[in-house]
Amino acid sequence: MKQRYLIGNLKMNILSLEEADQYLSVFRREMKGRKQSVTTTVIVPPFLYLERFRKGLPETVSLGAQDVFWEKEGSYTGEISPIMLKDMGAEYVIVGHSERRQYGRETDEEIAKKVQALLKWNLRPILCIGETAEERKEGETSSVLGAQLKGAFEGLSSLHAEKMIVAYEPRWAIGSDHVPAPEDILEAKVIIYRMIASMCGAAVAERVSVLYGGSVKANLLKQVCFDAQMDGVLVGRESLFPYEVAKISEIIENYEVTEHESTGRGI
Ligand code: PGA
Repeated sequence: MKQRYLIGNLKMNILSLEEADQYLSVFRREMKGRKQSVTTTVIVPPFLYLERFRKGLPETVSLGAQDVFWEKEGSYTGEISPIMLKDMGAEYVIVGHSERRQYGRETDEEIAKKVQALLKWNLRPILCIGETAEERKEGETSSVLGAQLKGAFEGLSSLHAEKMIVAYEPRWAIGSDHVPAPEDILEAKVIIYRMIASMCGAAVAERVSVLYGGSVKANLLKQVCFDAQMDGVLVGRESLFPYEVAKISEIIENYEVTEHESTGRGI
C-alpha cells in the first residue's frame, strides 16, 4: 500500500518555547497509543523551535522544516542550510509554498535549486504548487502547474524524483473557506501525474506522493483526500490544534480503500 501523509505546517505561529512545550505536551497525550502504520505524520514548526520539537514529538511523528537555502554554507545572511536542518533532525522540507512565492517573491528557478540541494543532502522535499483564482478562471491551471513542476523535476534522476512529495494547494483555497470539489482535485492530480510521467517516466510518476492542501479540516477529508484519491493532506490552520492533528491522522490511518477505488488509483 502506498504511504499516506499528514503534514502539519505551523507557519509563523508558536511564539515562545512555552507555547511549543504546551503544544507538544497535548500532542503527545493525543497521539498516545495511536498506530501509524500506513501514515507518516510530519510536524513542521518554525526554524527556531526545530530542536524543541525534535525532542518533544512522539516517536511515531517526523519533523519537517518550512524552507531551506540551496547553498551548504557561506555568506548568506539569514538563510538556513540543508545541513543545519539535517542536524536538527528534520527529514522533510516544504519548498515553494505559495506564501513564500508571494511574500518572498520566490521563483521556480530558486525553488528548483532548493529541491536539488535537499535531495543531495537526503532530505525529502514537499513541493507546493497551485494556481490562483484568476489563473483558474482563465483556464490556465494546467499550464501553471506544468511550469511549477517542470522547474522542480526537470533533470532529476529517477531515484531522486521518486523521493519528491507534491502538495497541490490551489492558492484560492489556502487560508480561505473555499474548498474545491473532489473532481477538481482529481483533475489536478491527473495533470501532475501526466507531467511527471512525461519528464521522468510513468513508473516514477506512480511513486510520487501527491497531497492536497488548502483549508483542510477533519470533516472535509472525504472530499479533499479520499474521494479525490490523494495520498494525504497538508494542513495549515487546523494543525495549530494538536488534538485535530491527532484526529486527522487517525482518520487517514484507518481509511479503507475499497477495491473499486483502488482500481481507479494511480490514474
Ligand atoms: P490552511 O493552509 O490549511 O490554513 O488553508 C494550508 C497551507 O498553507 O498549506
